[in-house]
Formats: sequence, C-alpha cells, structure tokens
Amino acid sequence: MERNLKTLVIGSGGREDALAWKISQSPLLDRLYITPGNPGTRRWGESVAVKSDDIDGIVDFIRSNKINLTVIGPEATLAAGLADQIRLLEDPNIRVYGPNRREARIETSKAWAIWLMQSAGIPYPITQIFTEPELAFKFLKENEGPFVYKANGLTSGKGVIVTETKEEGEEAIHRILVNKEFDSGDILLIQEKLSGQEVSVMGISDGETIKIIPPAVDHKRLLDQNRGPNTGGMGAYSVNDLYSQRFLEWTQNQVLQKAVDYIRKNYPPYIGTLYAGLMITPKGVKVLEFNARFGDPETQTQLPRLEGDFLQMLWSAAEGKLDKSQFKFSPKAAVTTILTTPGYPEKPRTGQIIYGLDTVTDPDVLVFHAGTTQNPDGSTVTSGGRVLAISAIGDTLIAARKKAYSQIGPNRIHFDKMHYRTDIAPQTT
Ligand code: AMP
Ligand code: GLY
Repeated sequence: MERNLKTLVIGSGGREDALAWKISQSPLLDRLYITPGNPGTRRWGESVAVKSDDIDGIVDFIRSNKINLTVIGPEATLAAGLADQIRLLEDPNIRVYGPNRREARIETSKAWAIWLMQSAGIPYPITQIFTEPELAFKFLKENEGPFVYKANGLTSGKGVIVTETKEEGEEAIHRILVNKEFDSGDILLIQEKLSGQEVSVMGISDGETIKIIPPAVDHKRLLDQNRGPNTGGMGAYSVNDLYSQRFLEWTQNQVLQKAVDYIRKNYPPYIGTLYAGLMITPKGVKVLEFNARFGDPETQTQLPRLEGDFLQMLWSAAEGKLDKSQFKFSPKAAVTTILTTPGYPEKPRTGQIIYGLDTVTDPDVLVFHAGTTQNPDGSTVTSGGRVLAISAIGDTLIAARKKAYSQIGPNRIHFDKMHYRTDIAPQTT
C-alpha cells in the first residue's frame, strides 16, 4: 500500500509520546502532528497548540490540514465526542482511530459496561446498581459482603472503593451517593469483591474484528511491594509467556470479540482500542472494567516490542479492514519505570530541572515524556506528577529492567526529590 498519511495524535502524556514515536517510524507517514503534545513528542512531529478537549478547534485543524488519520489517546477526548465529529465529515480520506462517544461509554459509564456484558454474555462480577442512598444502605445491611463500590462515570481512576468492612461500605455509599464526591452522575455500583490475579488485555478493533496485542502488567501503587496510594501507573512490563495462548485466545474471543460483535449489531461499529481489565479467580475469569483506549503506562512498554507497522495497523483499523499481518512482536522483554515528582499523586510539586536526558545513548532505551515542559533557556523541567517513562528492551526481563534502571542516577537522569519504584517487573525471571 502506498499512501502518504498525514497523522494527528491527540494528547500530551507518556502514552501519546510512545504512540507518536512508533507512528513516526512508518513508511506510510507523510507528516505527524501532536496536539497539544509535549517536549518529548516534538522529537517525532509538530506540536499543535490546541487543547485535547477543544473539539471544534481540533476538527478545524483536521479539515484545514487534510489530516488523514487522527489517533485519540485520552478517554476525555473520546467522551467529548471528537471521533463522532470526524466521522460526521464522511470523508474516506479523513479517518479516526477511537470509538464514538456513545460506544466509549464502555469506559465512561460503568453501568453501561455492565449492561453490555450482561447482554453480550461476557462474565463479570455480581453487581447491583443504585441511585437512591437508602436502598444502597439497606442492601449493605442485608448482605454480607465485602463489596467494591464504584462511582459510575469518568473519575480519573479514583472512583473505585475496595472495602473490607460494613463501616467502610457505609462510608463509600456516603462518598458516592450522598456527598457526590466523584462528579460522575448519581449512579453507584456495588460489586462482589473478588480475589485473584489481575491482567489487562488490549485489542485493536476495526469494528468487526478485534485482535489482541501482547499484554503488559501495570503497577498501580505508589510504593514498592504494592504499598501506598493508587496512581495512574508507576511502571509496567511485557514479556512473552506471561499468559497461556489458550487464555489469551479465550479473552480475545469470549470478552473482546463478544463486546465488538454486540456493539456492531446494535450501534455504529467500535473502531479503536478495547482494553479489558480482568481478574482470574478460582471461579473463572471476570471483567472488572473496560477502557476505550490504550493503557498508560502499558503502551510505553508494549510498543517498543512491536515490529510491524503501527500506522498501517491503526489506519487499516480505521478503514474497517484490519491488517493482521502487522501484529508482529519481538520475543524480547520490555520494562518501563515511571519517574514522578515529590507529592505525587496527591499534591505533585513541579518545576524541578531534569538533568541527564542527553546521557541516554543505548538504542534499546526510550525515554517518553509525560509531565515535562521546556524553559526558554532550553532546560527541561517537571510540569506534572508523572514526569518520564523510561522503557528498555532486553533478551530477558532481568536484562530489560537492568537497562531501564541504569538510566537513573546522579550522573544519569535525575531531578530533585524524584520518586520511582524500584521493583517494576519480577526480579527472578
Ligand atoms: P477498576 O477501575 O474497575 O479496574 O477498579 C480499580 C481496581 O479496583 C482494580 O484494578 C481492582 O484492583 C479493584 N477492583 C475493581 N473491581 C473489583 C472487584 N469486583 N473485586 C475486587 N477488586 C476489584
Ligand atoms: N494503566 C491503566 C490505564 O491505562 O487505565
């Protein structure tokens, strides 16, 4: 296929820096833009000064610059309906990778996701849905638990409260339905609390077919040994043989494909990434959540393993004709560790000068930017909680993690009061 694709990536995080990096390697690419982008994405393409929630501004840019493919990173942009606006143009040379607002509810409305799973026959934890606090309190009184409490809408990963006791349950109901702390409508889900191993699996969908990419394991807690508060993700790793082929095929067919099929039969097709957060329990595998986009920081660890043409993969999905031949992944392992500012996640203190970015010379190492900005004097400083994602590939997980961590230190990448976890990826394999 010969094409010169003008491509636009929406977003400004580490995920978008990784998406832009991989797209920039494609022979199909004509020009790459990132809106709003960050100092890292400027290595791969041009930053466009339009915010990722300014839908009219982005559509104007797409039309006037004849952008062939728009790749949407953040869920907020999906929820704001950018994909719908681009599809409304009905131009075969102006396409979008990402679902419409209504189909993105698979992430933005947990109640809708439950309803979809029920309709499509996808396994999920037993769930009750409440809008009245009295009925939720009554349910809690009459049932043993323990339960997990979920605010319905987009809550930046904060709307899930896992409890042990009834007192904690009462507090959770208060926070979600009485105090409406989560600004996400008036809907509460109370779910059976499962225990088991958590896995995330992402697939690329052209609306009809979905094909998975090798999974990655995220590390959500701030501190080593999974202690401390939940964060946006402190690191990830990806390696073959994490899960059996049988399990991955089951997930592709019984979870992701079923969701895509159900949506196609009842709505406009789901084109984009569908991400399933699964729990493997003694009673089988259940879906805890869906996301309608690539994971962050999973993307930063998965894309360095991709050997196929990523732009061709996304364009073919956006065209509705997924090119499966591009799903070629290196057998090597990848490890990504995130550097954060002091005070993250509650109160990140930013503005520290970042040193040592120019010390990275190993071609197996990539430093993706998230919360960084450039000062007029050319120095790079921190501007957000998660600052950099350092990704490395190696023959084994041990080799990859050693390479990633060896980029950090007083003579390498560092900034004042920088924080990172020292235990990303198993240390024995
Ligand atoms: P979610 O945003 O739905 O993935 O929830 C965030 C985290 O809460 C998950 O990664 C799990 O660790 C936990 N969680 C969510 N639902 C359940 C559940 N039904 N049982 C146990 N843990 C859960
Ligand atoms: N890493 C979790 C997420 O992207 O939602």
